[in-house]
Amino acid sequence: GKFQIAVIVGSLRRDSFNRKLANAIVKLAPSEFSFKQVQIGDLPLYNQDDDANQAESVKRLKSDIGTAQGLLFVTAEYNRSIPGVLKNAMDHASRPYGQNAWAGKPAGVLGVSVGATGTALAQQHLRNVLAYLDVPTLGQPEAFIQAKDGLFDASGNIGPDSSKFLQGWMDKYVAWVKKHAA
Ligand code: FNR
Repeated sequence: GKFQIAVIVGSLRRDSFNRKLANAIVKLAPSEFSFKQVQIGDLPLYNQDDDANQAESVKRLKSDIGTAQGLLFVTAEYNRSIPGVLKNAMDHASRPYGQNAWAGKPAGVLGVSVGATGTALAQQHLRNVLAYLDVPTLGQPEAFIQAKDGLFDASGNIGPDSSKFLQGWMDKYVAWVKKHAA
């Protein structure tokens, strides 16, 4: 596609609702957009001592982000914040100092949780980090999604109850990426 998007899923769980959401929502994008989930589960724990000698997995992450025209975060909420595995990836790609791979990449934030707050608190923490990393993040619409029967249909697409809302979200996200690419 003309617009390559790096998708960062904030959960390593095999049957992650957030990964399912990431897989389903990309089908609502136009064909000029292509999406690639970046791998974050094999990154070492961030250690500033390694800044001058980043692991191959870190270089791969930074390269995947560097070549993307946009970012899509789809994250779980752990204890009212973002999972450590996501923060670890964000810290890695922000360094060494002055070589922040995230900077300037337009982003969207989504999440699904089993709780009724639908990752609202995690998303708010994530927005705080993204602001510091100089990532222009789509403000509206917000999408706080609760995992319920019927969220996905049998083929893994967004189910009928949420498809209109999430199509609207995707349309705004697409416009946001294009605006920043221009
Ligand atoms: C959770 N869960 C959770 N849910 C929520 O709505 N708010 C929260 O603060 C938390 N906290 C939390 C902490 C930890 C350590 C775990 C393991 C879980 C539940 C969470 O929404 C649920 O496990 C989701 O299934 C996680 O998303 P994935 O892995 O399905 O994408």
